Amino acid sequence: MKEKIAQIREKIKAESIKNKESLEVFRIQYLGTKGVIKELFGDLKALANEHKKEAGQLLNSLRMDLEAIYQKHKDNLEDSSSTDEKIDLTRPSENFNIGSRHPLSLVRSEIIEIFARIGYAVSEGPEIEDDWHNFSALNFPPEHPARDMQDTFFIEKGEKEMALRTHTSSVQVRVMENEKPPIRTISPGRVYRNEAISARAHCFFHQVEGLYIDKKVSFADLKQTLSYFAKELFGEEAQIRLRPSYFPFTEPSAEVDVSCTICNSKGCNVCKHTGWLEILGCGMVDPAVLEANGIDSKEYSGFAFGMGVERIAQLKYKVNDLRLYSENDIRFLKQFTAG
Ligand code: DAH
Repeated sequence: MKEKIAQIREKIKAESIKNKESLEVFRIQYLGTKGVIKELFGDLKALANEHKKEAGQLLNSLRMDLEAIYQKHKDNLEDSSSTDEKIDLTRPSENFNIGSRHPLSLVRSEIIEIFARIGYAVSEGPEIEDDWHNFSALNFPPEHPARDMQDTFFIEKGEKEMALRTHTSSVQVRVMENEKPPIRTISPGRVYRNEAISARAHCFFHQVEGLYIDKKVSFADLKQTLSYFAKELFGEEAQIRLRPSYFPFTEPSAEVDVSCTICNSKGCNVCKHTGWLEILGCGMVDPAVLEANGIDSKEYSGFAFGMGVERIAQLKYKVNDLRLYSENDIRFLKQFTAG
């Protein structure tokens, strides 16, 4: 045993440990669970009792020396790895992909910013709505086709029949319930309709609803607000025109076209050679809607409008297939970076 230990001590002197790999080989060979030290301790048991003590001490001191050698090399290697590998601070960094914002998210933010500049707050409501908020409080008569299964996804939630909201106008109702006029708010969000998916229709899409209620709000205020919005969004030269329309919750109601930004109103495929593009629906909040939501229609009046975010994105980015917005094709998404 004594001899063996002496041999090992000689052998150690010849070991060269230059890097982490050779240090690990060293550790396994001498200090590992199947290494030299372990083996010698095994041999110790077989020794006659009178030799055990001395051999045991020698073996222990060998083990401690080996551990010290191991630790010293380990520390050296760690020190030198931090100084040897010099960091070149002038080296250009590697490209890494930081991603980009979704076009609908960009348009949504832009709309929010434009209205924030004229004092509109943002409000949101649930996507699963009851009949009252999606239809009744908005003056939809019981036989209105929008209440039909054809257009609306109805779901059962407990005892109650609920619907996936078909428009963000439902948030108008929630705001009127919770706030007193003056109210100036826009409500962006996702809406659902029971439609087959195609380039021009989808079972979900996004809208931004607007609501302004105060004393003496007039149709002229509505028109001026929308004109401001169109110019901010599409440029100073953008014009709007209003066409009479019908919505149950507004009276009078109108649809709003913006002058075609693609052909400068000269006529193109996108505007179907009319020079105009439809972008939103609007109107004066029907007094019945104000009353249904506890607002005195003799004291207050207001206007509302609602637009599709995909529609605006289509005009801004010339993306005319609705499916692209939700397929998450990286080649599509990569094209949009926040400006
Ligand atoms: N809710 C309508 C829709 O989904 C859009 C709309 C039209 C909203 C007129 C309004 C409005 O607030 O006044 O088609």
